[in-house]
Amino acid sequence: MSIDTPPITPQQYEVLHGGGAEAAEIAQQRRSRRRFLRRSMLAVWGLSATAAVAGALDMLYPNLAGQFGAALAVGKKADFPPATQLNEYAIGSKGVFYRQAAKTYIIHMGATTQFLLQEPLLASEIQYQSIVKDQDGTYWVALYQKCVHLGCTVPFRNDCNSFKCPCHGSHYNVDGEYLDGPAPRSLDRFALSFNGQDVVVDTGTLNSAVPHPDTTTRLINQPTVQCSAGG
Ligand code: FES
Repeated sequence: MSIDTPPITPQQYEVLHGGGAEAAEIAQQRRSRRRFLRRSMLAVWGLSATAAVAGALDMLYPNLAGQFGAALAVGKKADFPPATQLNEYAIGSKGVFYRQAAKTYIIHMGATTQFLLQEPLLASEIQYQSIVKDQDGTYWVALYQKCVHLGCTVPFRNDCNSFKCPCHGSHYNVDGEYLDGPAPRSLDRFALSFNGQDVVVDTGTLNSAVPHPDTTTRLINQPTVQCSAGG
């Protein structure tokens, strides 16, 4: 009998089944007990399911505030003096800066940087490569530290004026553009923005779609120095 069937009185039970009113009373009590047990089990199951869904949502949308995966303020604009010529870039002092919490290199290119493209191609390629032009005419990009070949951390080499992966030799220009080696594309880059004078890197938004450059897309000249495999 369904749990939703209205209960019958002992007297009705007696008429229907020819049994005693006492037996009907016992049957009704059993039905009530079964109904209570079913509802209790449903309640427990419901609570468990709710907890499981909450746990899954927490895994899918963790609270990453202040951690890698969130938007992180990595310093003031003044902390990142720009460089213009390739041989001026020096890690930590001019043009290229590492921020470990964001796993990123902040590249700051001077306003007089010589680009190989002309407008309007230049503006669209800069946007495509997640490079941000600031109000003072300088250019910023936040490169992910991870080599796009097999994931090693890529150091910037002052002696090479570029990034050189120690694992299998992938080589990237200071703006992250692919130069040579087994990497399948240019370095990936995070979304970068400004909040007043703060430089903000959104480590949850990654552009991993910048292909090997060609003559129609390469932004800056390749370095002329030889870059040995060793550091
Ligand atoms: S992981 Fe960098 S070249 Fe292979």
